[in-house]
Amino acid sequence: MMHPNIGLNEETRNQVSKKLSFILCNQFILYIKTLKFHWNIVGSDFKPLHLFLEEQYEELLKIVDEVAERMRALGHVAPGTAKEFLQYAEVLENAGENPPAKGMLQILLHDHETIIRIIRKEVDATMELGDAGTNNFLCDMMERHEKMAWMLRSFLE
Ligand SMILES: [Fe+2]
Repeated sequence: MMHPNIGLNEETRNQVSKKLSFILCNQFILYIKTLKFHWNIVGSDFKPLHLFLEEQYEELLKIVDEVAERMRALGHVAPGTAKEFLQYAEVLENAGENPPAKGMLQILLHDHETIIRIIRKEVDATMELGDAGTNNFLCDMMERHEKMAWMLRSFLE
């Protein structure tokens, strides 16, 4: 593989890629959970919630794709197996659980907030490592998660 000659040394690119990989694994688990709840949600608000969750999983898939491509830009390969996602993610799958609609939205909100806290930490870390590109990338991505979390929270109020 050709090494990117972009003013970031190999050690920095390794460290940043590990952070991105960790974020990606968490986001992919949340993507799967959002898809699953889109399929299984029930109740009198079925239609708007079903469509709302579709918007959210589509946004999450765009985000994980961007994270994987950022890893490639830093000269690394992206994780892409369910086994790796499960092994490294802090977000839990909650296999077999299909709570009532409100419970589903609470779970998704909780997971977005977990991911936002992880990203916020890595925003500071990438700044310290001097990777302005990833820092900017993560700042924007954190805002997108914050917006999704706000929308979930609004359904719950
Ligand atoms: Fe669908």
